[in-house]
Order: sequence, then C-alpha cells, then structure tokens
Amino acid sequence: MTSLELTTDDFRRLAHRVSTLAEQWLTELDARAIAPALKGSDTEALFAEGLPEEGLKDAALDALGTVIAGTRAGNARFLGYVLGSGEPVGALGDYLASVLNQNVTAWRSSPTMVSMERAVVRGLAAAVGCPGFTGSLTGGGSSANLMGLTMAREAKAPANEEGSPSGVVYASTEVHMSIPKALALLGLGRRNLRLIPTDSDWRMRPEALEHAITGDVAAGRRPLAVVATAGTVNTGAVDPLKDVAAIARRHGLWMHVDGAFGALAAMAVPERFEGLALADSLSMDAHKWLYQPVDCGVLLYREAAAARRAFSFSGDYVRTLSTDSVEGFAFFDESLELSRRARALKPWLSVRYHGLRAFREAIRKDLENASHLAELVRAEPKLELLAPVPLSAVCFRYVAGLAEPERDAFNTRLMARLNARGRVYLSNATLSGRFALRACFVNHRTTAEDVRTVVAEVLATAKELQGT
Ligand SMILES: Cc1ncc(COP(=O)(O)O)c(C=O)c1O
Repeated sequence: MTSLELTTDDFRRLAHRVSTLAEQWLTELDARAIAPALKGSDTEALFAEGLPEEGLKDAALDALGTVIAGTRAGNARFLGYVLGSGEPVGALGDYLASVLNQNVTAWRSSPTMVSMERAVVRGLAAAVGCPGFTGSLTGGGSSANLMGLTMAREAKAPANEEGSPSGVVYASTEVHMSIPKALALLGLGRRNLRLIPTDSDWRMRPEALEHAITGDVAAGRRPLAVVATAGTVNTGAVDPLKDVAAIARRHGLWMHVDGAFGALAAMAVPERFEGLALADSLSMDAHKWLYQPVDCGVLLYREAAAARRAFSFSGDYVRTLSTDSVEGFAFFDESLELSRRARALKPWLSVRYHGLRAFREAIRKDLENASHLAELVRAEPKLELLAPVPLSAVCFRYVAGLAEPERDAFNTRLMARLNARGRVYLSNATLSGRFALRACFVNHRTTAEDVRTVVAEVLATAKELQGT
C-alpha cells in the first residue's frame, strides 16, 4: 500500500466535506457577489505557497472555503458571455465520472460509457431536429468547430494530396473567433477565411456568399466549406441556413453550422432554425444552452464515414478486435481525442432527472427573459436597443445626456462599474464599431424580476457615473 491509498472512511469524510461546500455554494449562490472584488495579485497570493512536499491530509481542504469565497457566482443575474448555469444534477454526474475514471476511447475500454455517449448524442441530435446524425461530445464549441472543419477539409481537399493544404472557407463577418483559429490550425491560414457581409439583422447575406464563391472559382481558388452560424455570439443572429445550404450544395461545399451558442434552442423553437438538418456537421454546446457544467460540447455529423476519413489513424495497439458494430466502435476513429473523460454522464443524468420537457421550458424562459429585457430597453428613453433579439442575447447601451462620440467610453465605464457593484454581470459586444452592453440568457435560474434588476442596475450605475 502506497501512501496514496485512501480508506473508505477517509473518502466518506472528505466527500462529506466537499458535498457540504457544494451544498452551501448552491444555497448561498443568490446572495453572493457575482464578481468578488479581487485583483490579480490577490488571486495569485491564494496559491503563493506552491505545492507541498508532505501531504496536509484533511487540512488540505481548509483552503477551499477561501478559494470559493473569491469565486465568481454564476447566479441568476450572471448574464455575461454565453455561460450556462451549471445544472447541479449534471455536476453530480461529472463527479461520478471522475470517480469511475473511465477512459472513453472505445467500446472495448469503456463499454457502458461508450454506449451512453452514443445514446446522448443520438438523443440530442433528435431533440434539435437532426435525427440520424451521430457524433461525439467534445471539450466545447471550439474543438467541435475544429473537428467539423477538419472533416470538411478531408472531404473536399484531403491532406494527403500533393502540396500544402488549400481551400477557401466562407463565414459571415459575425463569425466566432474559433473558426479563424481552426483554419490557422488546419494550415489553411486565416487569409483563406472569406468574411461575408451580413444584413441589418446580422445574418449572412446569401447573395454575397454566392458572389464570393463564384469570384474565387473564377480566380482559380478552391472553395471548400461554408460555416453558417446558428446564434452569433454578439447578437444571437441565425444565418439563413436553408439558403446557405442550397448554395453549399450547388457549389459542392461542405456546410458546417456553428451552433455552439444557439443550436440547442432548436429543441424549444425549431421554427427559428429551419434548415439546421441540412448541415454536414454541426457544433453545439451543452455547457451553454443545456445548462450543463463546463465542459460539454457536442459535434454532430450526418456521415460517420466522413469523421473516420478525418480522424481514423488506428495503430495496431489500439485496434479493437470485434467486427460487431457496437463492440468494434472507437471514438478515437471519429475524434481528435484518444483519452476522453465520461462527459456523457452529466447530460445523461441531468436529462433523465428533469426530462427534455423541462429543458425546453427553461430555454423558452430564457427567450422570454431576453424579449422582456428588449421591451424594457425600448420603453426606457435613457437606453437604446442596438440589435434585434432573435434568440437570447440583448445588446443595448445607455444614451441619455451623451453625444454619440461619448457613448462608447461612457458605456465601457458603466459596464465596469455595474459589474463591480456585484448585483448583475453583463459583458459587451462591438456592433458596427459601437460599444454595446450585452446580456445573454442561458441561465435556468433567471427570473423576470432579475430582468427588471438589470435595467434598474444599469440606470443606477449611470446615475452614479454622471454624479446626479
Ligand atoms: C458562436 C460560438 N461559437 C463557438 C464558441 C466557442 O465555444 P467554446 O467556448 O465552448 O469553445 C462560442 C462561445 O461562446 C460561440 O458563441
């Protein structure tokens, strides 16, 4: 027995302490300051003593209280970025996933977890109106996008062709940064990302897409893929998926949909995502709009063969021995990753506990909260709504008493002060060069009262800043 051994009694005692902290966190979540007033030097100081040579035993857990006290509270009024609210049953699934320590590489190494993940992926695909799609869970939307574009590249311009990889990828000017990053990683280079202008609702303009493709073909370049966004990070705009898919088909392009933010809302409002199932690959984030604890991304695709073309390099040491379609299945043949945690445990447990209907209701509630905030902003002369609200991101700014050139700087200061007040947390977006306050509702805890608090806090903060 090494000194790493833990008795059952030790485990029970430690687990009880951790559980108590978790329970306390959830109970007090609403009362906590959303953004504790800590500087970088304060958080560094918490860990300044480094890692101990000799174990501290139970005292090792003592510091958790201080660490948690300084941790940002993702409560009902945390509306920054696209941060899901961390559904607690999902968290329990995640805890168990670590204890079970399954390595979900292939059915042979973790039979139940492989079948569970396949079932979760199939179930979520069906729930968003893409029945028959398969795929895998990923670390998030960025890796799902990278994998989707790797599949596109392999399908349309295989890497083993002579010469360096080439091909042009199209996406709207509102594309998420994970797409240029994926192109850079794939060796296609950011210069091969063609940014297509959007309409007044921030949706890709199909005729501009077609024009860009034909221009590239005429210039001897090779169009490869189009990335449509289902929920842009700034405003939640959903590109015209049907039109984009028709153009992609006509020109023989792969269509990847970046639905990291929005696509799971197709569970609740499918009419806003017409054409989603025309994608060749689709990313979505269960750690955003399925409220699962980070991390839980999803990549879906229509043809498993395309994923295998991109990712299957199995050497003999990992090759499974069975010809059975389940027993011979290996995620490493369809994914970037080999060692993979049992990510499916959280959505599986969480959805089994609450049922899909509860998630649809929570998503509808988020959409209602966003519409409600937009209405309040429209009704308040001191505020200006800066973009339509097709999903759950609301972009607006404070304008009263401010000339146009002063508005960016004032709203920048307003956001910092508002967040420091600790009652509401907003992030920002830049729309046509203008600074926007941005509230994003992917939080099952947020109520109509919280939405009213957002407006009240923005007005109170502005008053503080204007000193009136
Ligand atoms: C549209 C879009 N795509 C991709 C991503 C990246 O997702 P992740 O943070 O899970 O890597 C985000 C994150 O906000 C997003 O909004």
